[in-house]
Amino acid sequence: MRPNHARRSVAVFPGSFDPITNGHLDIIQRSLSVFGSVIIAILVNPEKRPLFTVEERVDIIRETYRREARVRVDTFSGLLVDYAMKVGASAIVRGLRAISDFEYEFQMALMNRRLNPRIETVFLMAPESYSYLSSRLVKEVFQLGGRVHELVPPVVERRLKEKHGASSAAAAVRRRRRRVR
Ligand code: PNS
Repeated sequence: MRPNHARRSVAVFPGSFDPITNGHLDIIQRSLSVFGSVIIAILVNPEKRPLFTVEERVDIIRETYRREARVRVDTFSGLLVDYAMKVGASAIVRGLRAISDFEYEFQMALMNRRLNPRIETVFLMAPESYSYLSSRLVKEVFQLGGRVHELVPPVVERRLKEKHGASSAAAAVRRRRRRVR
């Protein structure tokens, strides 16, 4: 790869990021050694019931990367390859944690290639220490009172606590209302 090309090249790192974890951060860091800039693209999916709204996820990621000019955050809906073309990206980056990720990722990569052969999917390997890490497990562990400190950036831990506090307060109000009725 020519150095100028590497400096200019844009990659899209798509996902739900509900919430972003240290595993994602690792993949973004690795992407920056290959691509000039990375766009973290959050899928807007009305069929899912996420813990964090799209706006909250954008805020969290913006705060995490406020000092890194080469990382941007955006949202998209519709086909990922269409979004990648629109923003001038030449590649889609996906992280692989374990062999179990491979089948799903391979299927998506081939479908995306069929849809648009000009967009290349690049797989980067997460370190073994994060092979078990997922947004779903972070939420589950946190909601059950477990420690997520080393698994997510500080802003995510803070937002989880705020959300948990807000939902406990709302539940207490609901309980009180039920008692009054
Ligand atoms: O964080 P996730 O849930 O693993 O991310 C999945 C994502 C967003 C990469 C995938 O669902 C996606 O690309 N959706 C966009 C719709 C699309 O392009 N589908 C056809 C290609 S498989």
